[in-house]
Amino acid sequence: MRLILYITTLLCACSCYAQEYAFPPNFQFGVATAAYQVEGGWNSSGKGENIWDRLTHTRSELITDGSNGDIACDTYNKAIEDVQLLKSLGVDFYRFSFSWSRILPTGTANKINPDGIRYYNEMIDELLANGIKPFATMYHWDLPQPLQELGGWPNSVIADLFADYANVLYENFGDRIKDWITFNEVGVFCGGGYESASMAPAYNGAGFGVYLCGHTVLRAHGKAYRLYESKYKASQGGRVGITIDSGWYEPASESPVDIEAAETAIQMGFGWFAHPIFSTDGDYPPVMKQRIAQKSAEEGFSRSRLPEFTSEEIAEIRGSSDFFGLNHYTTNRCTIIPDGWGTPPSQWTDAGALCSQDADWEPSASSWLKVVPWGFRKLLVWIKNEYNNPEVVVTENGFSDRGELRDCRRINYYNSYLEQLLKAIHEDGCNVSGYTAWSFMDNFEWMRGFTERFGLYYVDFNDPNRPRTPKMSYYVYKNILATKRVDWKYSPDSFDECEF
Ligand SMILES: *[C@@H]1O[C@H](CO)[C@@H](O)[C@H](O)[C@H]1NC(C)=O
Ligand SMILES: *[C@@H]1O[C@H](CO)[C@@H](O)[C@H](O)[C@H]1NC(C)=O
Repeated sequence: MRLILYITTLLCACSCYAQEYAFPPNFQFGVATAAYQVEGGWNSSGKGENIWDRLTHTRSELITDGSNGDIACDTYNKAIEDVQLLKSLGVDFYRFSFSWSRILPTGTANKINPDGIRYYNEMIDELLANGIKPFATMYHWDLPQPLQELGGWPNSVIADLFADYANVLYENFGDRIKDWITFNEVGVFCGGGYESASMAPAYNGAGFGVYLCGHTVLRAHGKAYRLYESKYKASQGGRVGITIDSGWYEPASESPVDIEAAETAIQMGFGWFAHPIFSTDGDYPPVMKQRIAQKSAEEGFSRSRLPEFTSEEIAEIRGSSDFFGLNHYTTNRCTIIPDGWGTPPSQWTDAGALCSQDADWEPSASSWLKVVPWGFRKLLVWIKNEYNNPEVVVTENGFSDRGELRDCRRINYYNSYLEQLLKAIHEDGCNVSGYTAWSFMDNFEWMRGFTERFGLYYVDFNDPNRPRTPKMSYYVYKNILATKRVDWKYSPDSFDECEF
C-alpha cells in the first residue's frame, strides 16, 4: 500500500512538474515566412518569373481558390512596417526566404537585379536596428523559371547554379546574416514537384524524377556549405544549415513487420536527406540504396533509379550543416504495403510502407495535418539517437484553420507541442536550441491558396492594404516568449478564455 502510494505521488509530482519546465535562458524563438507566400511584387522592379508564378498563372485550376502570390501579403511593400509587428511579438529572430528570381532574374549570377539587393538590404537593416536576427533561407521552393526550362532540379547542372546564387547572397548579405538555411524541406518540394505533381512544377515522375531532384539538391547544398566554409566563414563568422521536414512515423502495431515498415519509412522519407549530411558514414541510408536498387532491377531498369554519389560527393556532403533545421507538423502510422498496392515505381512502393493517420486524431484545415503532440517528442528522440544528438533548430511548427481570430485550437497546438519539446529537452536530453512558429502571418498556402491559414496575424486578402490583425494565438505566443514557459491558464484580456 505504502509503496503504491509513494509511486503515485512520485508520478503526480513528475507530471505536474513537467508543465513547469522552462525553456533554457539562451533558447531562441522566432517566426517564419517564405518569399513566394508573402512577398507579392511578383513582377516589380526587375524580378524574374519563377515556377510558382508560372504554375499559378497558367494552371490556376490546380489552386483550390484559383488564387496566386502576385500580391500575397504585399510584404514587398510592407517589410519595414512588419518589423514593428515582429518587435512587439518579442522574437529573437525572423526566418524569411530570399526570392532567387528577385535577386537573379534569369537564375544565373551574371545578372544581378539591384532592386532585389535593395529590398533585402532594407529589411535586414531594419530587423537588426530593432534587435531581431535575420535567419535566412536561400531556397523556399521558387526556382527561376528559366532554370525549369532546363529541366529544373533533376538537371544536375542546377547544383552549380545554386552555389553561384549562394555566393551572391553571402557576398551581399553575409556581413549581417549569421544564420543561413540552404534549402527548406527538400522532400516536400521534390516530392510535390517530381513525384506526385502536387507542387510546382507539378511534374509526375514518380519513383524517378523525385530522386534526381533530391540528388541535385543534396549536391547543391554541399557546394553552398563548402563555399561558405572556404570563402566566407572566417571573415563573416556565421553558420550554414539545412531544413529537413519530417512527420513522426509510428508503427501501426507492435508487430515486428510494422515496426520495420515504420523504420524503413522514416529512413527513406527523412533519412533520405538527413543520413547523407548528419550520419557518420554519409551517403543515402543503406536500406534506401538496397531497396531501390532491388525494385529497379525487378522492374526492368538497367540501373537503380536512385543516383549514386561519388566518394568525393559523399565527403563533401557529410557533415555539411552547422545545425539540424527541422520542420515538424504531424504524425503517421505505418504498416507494410499489402500485395498489389500502388503503381510502381513510386517512393512508397520503394519503401514498402503504407502510412496514414488515425480517424480520431484532431484535424486542422489541412488534410495532412492532424494534432499529435507526442509524435514531436518521439521524432526529436529519434534524431538524437540516430545522428549523435546534433543541435536542432525547429525551423517550422504550426497549425492551420480558416482564419479565426479567437484561434483556440492553434493555441492548443502550440501549448501541446511546446510541452513535448520541453520534455524532449529536459527529460530526454535532446539538444534543441531554437523554435520557429509557422507562420508570422496568414499567407499563400501553395496549392491551397488562401483557404488554409497558419498565421499568428490574420491578413485580410480582400483589402488592398492587406491589414494584419493579431489573433489570440499571437498574444499566447508572445507570453511564451516573455516567460519562457507554457501556461495553459494564460488568456489575453481582449478575448474570451479558451476551454481546453
Ligand atoms: C505585372 O503584373 C500585373 C498583373 O499582376 C500586370 O497588370 C502588370 O502589367 C505587370 N507589370 C509589368 C511591369 O509587367
Ligand atoms: C548542443 O550542440 C552544441 C552545438 O553543436 C554544442 O556546443 C553543445 O555542447 C550541445 N549540447 C549538448 C547538451 O549536447
